[in-house]
Amino acid sequence: MERKWWKEGVVYQIYPRSFYDSNGDGIGDLQGIIRKLDYLKKLGVNIIWLSPVYSSPNDDNGYDISNYRQIMAEFGTMQDMERLIAEMHKRGMKIIMDLVVNHTSDEHPWFIESRSSRDNPYRDYYIWRKGKDDQPPNNWGSRFGGSAWEYDQTTGEYYLHLFSRKQPDLNWENPRVREEVYDMMRWWLDKGIDGFRMDVINMISKVKGLPDGRIKKGEKYSKDDSYYINGPRVHEYLQEMNKRVLSHYDIMTVGETPGVTPEIARKYVDFDRNELNMLFHFELMEIDRQSTKWKPRKWRLTELKEIFTKWYEGLKEKGWNSLYMSNHDQPRMVSRFGDDRKYRVESAKMLATLLHTLPGTPYIYQGEEIGMTNVAFETIADYRDIETLNWYREKKKEGVPEEKIMAAIHRTSRDNARTPVQWDDSPNAGFTGGVPWIKVNPNYKEINVSRALKDPDSIFYYYRKLIKLRKENPVIVYGDYKLILAEDENIYAYLRRLENDSLLVILNFFTRPARFHLPEDIEYGDKELLISNYPVEKNEGIREIPLRPYEARIYRLKK
Ligand code: GLC
Ligand code: CA
Repeated sequence: MERKWWKEGVVYQIYPRSFYDSNGDGIGDLQGIIRKLDYLKKLGVNIIWLSPVYSSPNDDNGYDISNYRQIMAEFGTMQDMERLIAEMHKRGMKIIMDLVVNHTSDEHPWFIESRSSRDNPYRDYYIWRKGKDDQPPNNWGSRFGGSAWEYDQTTGEYYLHLFSRKQPDLNWENPRVREEVYDMMRWWLDKGIDGFRMDVINMISKVKGLPDGRIKKGEKYSKDDSYYINGPRVHEYLQEMNKRVLSHYDIMTVGETPGVTPEIARKYVDFDRNELNMLFHFELMEIDRQSTKWKPRKWRLTELKEIFTKWYEGLKEKGWNSLYMSNHDQPRMVSRFGDDRKYRVESAKMLATLLHTLPGTPYIYQGEEIGMTNVAFETIADYRDIETLNWYREKKKEGVPEEKIMAAIHRTSRDNARTPVQWDDSPNAGFTGGVPWIKVNPNYKEINVSRALKDPDSIFYYYRKLIKLRKENPVIVYGDYKLILAEDENIYAYLRRLENDSLLVILNFFTRPARFHLPEDIEYGDKELLISNYPVEKNEGIREIPLRPYEARIYRLKK
């Protein structure tokens, strides 16, 4: 297995708006990030992924870009950005930026030109079609609700937007669009950034003719995404991008790709295909939902184990996994997969153990390292996320009772992850001296960075230790993975092995106590406990272990 810095590193995602506000306007900013770099250094992460910081009208918090070569005024200036890159490099950290090129903002100059007339040179930068008898060109639904088409008065045609109407899709069929994107990427890479996280990158190629999608009973717009996910030319585009741009730099790339299985993933990340290094799949993110994210579903531990095991098998030797359990689009990890009340600390540590010891590169989302939880604002007025607000309006119109809507929002809204990082117990959690753009989670007095730093048993120090273990033990990065006790519905246990080194990871996934039995065929002479989230007796055997709620242990097995 070839050694690479992006396989050995640990990534930390910053959502700048909610990270740290340096000037009291209630919005996190680049200077704020600079001030907290030593904190991140202390944690031990060495790759930072910045969610978008480009100029944007913020219809979707920066995922709607109006100028790719300018910094959003609220976040600072290009000098601040250059300073941030330099400060990170000074500390031995790499920085990767979000690349949002499936769509732009409708306020991007390309789109302003494009919509101005049918024969404008920029017309073909976007996807314009005539309507069908006063109706949109096809039945596709936007992923943020309503039709995926918006009628534009000026020229009497519709443009496609898979996300909000302020996020028109770029037309990747047009070679000039691709050239513009590659130019812009080079411009950033030449500033010294170390890679890209590519937003919904497997949606850039749409099926020719844009046919109607399947429609479910009672639905007005089709949720069928098979005509634009993993589309016919996506690999051609990515190979071109790789050849023209990526291959000329020592960088890392990770694509956000809904709707991929390991077989499909191989086409994106196989070392020999020269496309991307890693991708984010959604199989774990879909384990606890039905057809939409708003409808919960009970899941079993064996299903979760199958997902990770399948992805390991699918990509081993030929690709590389990325590991995440939360980000800016998902509920908080501890609320979702652990217990955010009685066993918050134990379960956050257990999940972190999994995240750092599976094969692949771990991604930590800001606040996760102190066990931040979901939030439950009482009124919709306190929510900011466009997806949440659109869904609320839609359900209200359908007559769904308020409590039902709010319960679903509390469970799954993207704003769960977007409340400000809780730095200390002063007003607004020390995030801002002003009024925060979104309220802080009221639990900040108990859960905050300053408190975590004072407590040697905190989740923070447990993360730090895991990151250190990963750095010091190549077996965690490059070892193979073998699931044991596959059928167990309480315990997730596996071995990681590299040459003569062998680690045993044992995780009790729930509150109920469980009994671990080491399979007979696993032999060892001696053992050494590397980390655990409960005190463990020094001479305790491991053939049989009664596990406490959410207990996690890693042992080194010696001959
Ligand atoms: C990705 C981003 C999400 C954004 C969407 C549209 O899924 O992670 O935050 O809303 O793309 O850009
Ligand atoms: Ca600010």
